[in-house]
Amino acid sequence: MADICYPFEPFKIKTIERVPITTRDEREKILRDAKGNIFRVPARGITIDLLTDSGTGAMSDAQWGALLQGDESYAGSKSWELLNSTAQEVFGMPYILPAHRGRGAGHLLFTVMLDRDKKPVIPGNGHFDTTSGHIEWAGGIGVDCIGEWADDPDSDYPFKGDMSPEKLREVISEYGVERIPLVLITITANTAAGQPVSLGGMKKIREVCDEYGIPLFFDAARFAENAYFIKTREKGMADKSVAEIVRMQFDLVDGAVMSSKKDGLVNIGGLVVCRDRELYRKLATMGTLFEGFPTYGGQAGRDIAALAVGLREVLDEEYLRWRVGQTRYLGERLKDNGVPIIWPPGGHAVYINIGKALDLPTSVYPGIAFQNAVYLEGGVRVCEIGIVLAGRDPETGEDRKPRYDLVRLAIPRRVYTQTHMDYVVNTVTKVYENREELKGVRFTYEPPVLRHFTAEYEEVNLVGKR
Ligand SMILES: Cc1ncc(COP(=O)(O)O)c(C=O)c1O
Repeated sequence: MADICYPFEPFKIKTIERVPITTRDEREKILRDAKGNIFRVPARGITIDLLTDSGTGAMSDAQWGALLQGDESYAGSKSWELLNSTAQEVFGMPYILPAHRGRGAGHLLFTVMLDRDKKPVIPGNGHFDTTSGHIEWAGGIGVDCIGEWADDPDSDYPFKGDMSPEKLREVISEYGVERIPLVLITITANTAAGQPVSLGGMKKIREVCDEYGIPLFFDAARFAENAYFIKTREKGMADKSVAEIVRMQFDLVDGAVMSSKKDGLVNIGGLVVCRDRELYRKLATMGTLFEGFPTYGGQAGRDIAALAVGLREVLDEEYLRWRVGQTRYLGERLKDNGVPIIWPPGGHAVYINIGKALDLPTSVYPGIAFQNAVYLEGGVRVCEIGIVLAGRDPETGEDRKPRYDLVRLAIPRRVYTQTHMDYVVNTVTKVYENREELKGVRFTYEPPVLRHFTAEYEEVNLVGKR
């Protein structure tokens, strides 16, 4: 292949969807009508949507073909047989249980494995918010054991998602091993700016778990992107295929929950996979109650058929090279333009370090101000992953202080081209260059939980008062 800086899209376009293009006046009205909340902006008002990479990807012609062949039999469909054998081979796990999405899978695992009477504690590398929610729903708490390497937003450290074995040991000695029914590693670490976890790092955590007899699980939504980072960044791994590395990752754990909406390359779905028959039986019983019969688990036969194809397509290294390259391209261009981002860029998103970018006080939610300005500038939807998302401490009523106040640019899979990314770079850079004009916001309506989804805001003019 010709020597180019960034890999080109390893696919060509067969079906297109027209993107809405709006004027600044139209966007101002749309955002006003949405009460200043980007989640309330209808998709028809958005030109480039970087709200999330979850369920927003494009399926391939092979997946659309598989949809037509979906078998809707209630029990033991052909689509299920295909998914079961594919997932067994990809993950090397004997037991596969579908769920309607990632949080459905998490709900099953945590209700089965956590005993609320023991006040369970689940150490991890920063649980995703719905994962934390389900741990708490099942009577437990999550504890973040990510290493100190995650605290430096500018270093080149290649695996900032790694858990610290020392912190894990401290948590075990603080709470007692009987309160820890499992350890959960999220690959890639979504709450730590999508940073990958190394195979070496996983092995160290496995060793600690083995020492204390604690099962180890993955929250594996981005298992293939993580494997690609291992291949390209971890010593001695370059000659392994991504498929081999995926197996090496899963060989280290007792099971996993997964949202298929990311590296499953489908728009909906989830899975639980495990090695232990007794655990599978308990999960399948609970699954039958909440998700459906264990061979469809809340999904249509056609969804399962598309997932079986997606699980193989995601292992395509040309695809992964482009996917990770596209995210890096966006991150590097923003960095070149002076926009402070969490470095290096992860697999699925670029995160702008708002604490460093703006000097607005946190009390006026600078991430919301920035995200809204990006929308007004170019119709690009990005998302605050910071103080508003973190919510309030129920005891003090104060805003929680997350590790970083961020705005995330999450890239849907196989949807946008390099030209779209150039447009995003220009839009975000312009907002950053005019950052002195940004006003903060205050709530005019603040829901008690998950406030970011439905809150309403108005601008506060701090210009001249900073
Ligand atoms: C790491 C992780 N776990 C779990 C979930 C929840 O998955 P779902 O949205 O399919 O319920 C997500 C979704 O973004 C995620 O990123």
